Parts: sequence; structure tokens; C-alpha cells
Amino acid sequence: MEYVNAHGARIPALGFGVFRMSDAEVEAVIGAALDAGFRHFDTAQIYGNEAALGRALKSAGARREDLFLTTKVWVDKYAKGPFAASVDESLEKLGVDRVDLLLLHWPADKVPVAEQVALINEVQAAGRTRFIGVSNQNAAQLRESVAISPAPIVTNQIELHPYIDNAKIVATARELGVAITAYYAMADGAVPKDAVLQKIGAAYGKSAAQVALRWLIQQGFIALSKTANPGRVAENFDVFDFTLSAADMAAIAGLSRPDGRIVSPPDLAPDWDV
Ligand SMILES: NC(=O)c1ccc[n+]([C@@H]2O[C@H](COP(=O)([O-])OP(=O)(O)OC[C@H]3O[C@@H](n4cnc5c(N)ncnc54)[C@H](OP(=O)(O)O)[C@@H]3O)[C@@H](O)[C@H]2O)c1
Repeated sequence: MEYVNAHGARIPALGFGVFRMSDAEVEAVIGAALDAGFRHFDTAQIYGNEAALGRALKSAGARREDLFLTTKVWVDKYAKGPFAASVDESLEKLGVDRVDLLLLHWPADKVPVAEQVALINEVQAAGRTRFIGVSNQNAAQLRESVAISPAPIVTNQIELHPYIDNAKIVATARELGVAITAYYAMADGAVPKDAVLQKIGAAYGKSAAQVALRWLIQQGFIALSKTANPGRVAENFDVFDFTLSAADMAAIAGLSRPDGRIVSPPDLAPDWDV
């Protein structure tokens, strides 16, 4: 495993995400994820599976101190009182005293970013999470968050895969010392079928999915991988024994296109940086 260091946080560079997974799917795949080597797990209040993840990790015998656990607070909890209560509920469901990383899931537009950042700092100060971060923030929001947050913002979790050009937010995060966590690495299923990525992978004996995960990690990002298919878990973890050439890195970046963004819910998303 490689790690990404940000403001004292040592984050495993590959995490297992459980978005769009039923409780039964989570419970069926977590043992395989642990066996493959995953120790970083990413969930969210809105995924509805924090309790299943907590149960599955416990029943598989995972040691808490070996895990890096992330959850995210949903936008309807962005208010004094409900925010902290929702985090307490998340911890109870996960069966832990604190998470390693807590994120503001989406900026939305109803509650000013400054208030959101104040709320997450309160729960961090109360010991409910080791580190805090944000998700889906644009460059201006990230600058504001970093400027006003007493505790460091360790990551911005954003959509990132070969088809999306996120150069501006990536450059801003780098300038601010904020790690980028990449979600939708498979571009919702398009990556594994991509002929260019398959061809690049063939030269290394790797699949297109492995190439995309490696491409993210090799840029210093944290990559999230989700599969409900236990047969694919080991494939997705097996990305630490090869290095993509500079030419291949550039060829993969060349797949980006203006309409490459997939996730942009109108009531949640900010004005994306172009
Ligand atoms: N912060 C946010 O707003 C946000 C938004 C979205 C996602 N996320 C996080 O990012 C994680 C990943 O995103 P995602 O799961 O939505 O999308 P994704 O990584 O693009 O994955 C899409 C699909 O690719 C398939 N897949 C995975 N590995 C494969 C392989 N080796 N070969 C072929 N197909 C493969 C999976 O289907 P199977 O299950 O059938 O294998 C999966 O459903 C989530 O679980 C979540 O933790 C965060």
C-alpha cells in the first residue's frame, strides 16, 4: 500500500467505497476487501449502509487501529444540533468512537460554506473524528474552507477519472496542501470497457480498471474503488506493482473531454471550475 500524507493524516492511497451497495452486498464483499488488503473504507450517511459496513468489518475480525474509516455528513444536517447528532448516529452505526476522516458531502447552496466548516470543526474538536475534509467543493469554496478552518482540511473528495478535466481544482488543492481523493474512477463503468485503456494495460499485463486506478495514484491522489463483485476486489487492489510510463500517463490524460463530468446534481453541485 502507498499512502498520501496531508496535514498529519496518513491516508491509504487506495480506498474501498460502498456507494450504491445494499447491506447484503456490503456484508458479502467486505471480507474479500480485507483479504485483498484494503484498510481504507469510504461510506456516507446518505449511502444508508454505515451500520452494515460496521457490522461487516467487525465480523471479519478487522482491528480498528488498522482501519482508515471515512464517512460524510449529508446536507440536510448542516445546522447546529442536527450536525453533531448525525455524526453521533454515524459513529454508533459504524460501531466506533470516532472516524478517521469526516467530510462535508456536498457544498449545496442553502448554508454558507463558512457555517459548514464551523460545524465540522466543532465535532472534530469534540473528538468525533481525527481529521476533517470536504467533498465536491470548487476552487473558491476550497480556498475559503482552508482559510477559515481552525483544523486543517486534509482532502477534497471529487469526481476524477480519465474523462474529466479537473486541472483547476487539482492545482488549487496542491497549492493549499489539500489531498485529492478521486471518486468515480471507473467513470461509472465506462473505464473497464475503454479500448485505449485496455491497450495501455495490455503492455503491463493489467486491465483498463487497474490502469485508471494506477493513473490516479501515480499522480499522488487517493483513489476510491467500489465493487460489489468479490471476484473483482483483488483485481482492483493489485495496482502497486507497476508504474505507467510518462507517455502512457499523458495518453490517459488526453482522454479528458469537456462533457466528461458525470456527477452534478443541480441542487447540490457548485459552479464547477472549467
Ligand atoms: N463524495 C461523493 O460525492 C461521491 C460520489 C460518488 C462516489 N463516491 C465514492 O467513490 C466510490 C467509487 O464510486 P462509484 O462506486 O460510484 O463509481 P465507480 O468507481 O466509477 O464504479 C462504477 C462501477 O464500476 C464497476 N467496477 C468496479 N471495478 C471494476 C472492474 N475491475 N471491472 C469492471 N467493472 C468494475 C462497479 O460495478 P460492480 O459493483 O458490479 O463491480 C461499479 O459499480 C463510491 O463507492 C463512494 O465511496 C463519492
